[in-house]
Amino acid sequence: MRAICPGSFDPVTHGHLDIVVRASRMFDEVLVAVGRNSAKNYLFSPDERAAMLADATSELPNVRVDLLDGLLVDYCREREIDVIVKGLRFAGDFEFELQMAQLNRVIGEVETVMLPTSKDWGHLSSTMIREIASLGGDVSGFVPPLVAERIAAKVAARREG
Ligand code: PNS
Repeated sequence: MRAICPGSFDPVTHGHLDIVVRASRMFDEVLVAVGRNSAKNYLFSPDERAAMLADATSELPNVRVDLLDGLLVDYCREREIDVIVKGLRFAGDFEFELQMAQLNRVIGEVETVMLPTSKDWGHLSSTMIREIASLGGDVSGFVPPLVAERIAAKVAARREG
């Protein structure tokens, strides 16, 4: 079976990677899809986010990274993807994810599997990581080394510019 882990991944964290690794053990093939059409204010471009994900998942042979435009259900239909995989950190995630899962099933007949986040990463969010980094905090414990480097470079460039 083929699964998809969609998200903004701005940037990818150890929490995201925990879900991708676990999905890669459950499904034959996993596509990690970087959404680029949300109204969010991104720190990294879609290509930058995808490149960091590709680096972080390079040792998982059945995982590929792609960019996602348009509706997730259309992407799934075109690529014969059976299941959407989402991580759940806390009750608030569930409420939002349940709504999306129900809608995606209505508009695209795609199933969603929700995995509870590992207890080590339940407190993580890309939004918090961006905030901590932009205020000069250390995020190296929350993201892969390459991501920590790229965040530091981005924050330094913003300070100078
Ligand atoms: O990491 P995020 O920001 O929670 O990821 C959101 C994402 C990319 C998974 C979501 O915005 C999405 O599915 N976008 C594709 C557009 C779509 O299909 N929207 C309808 C969802 S019911």
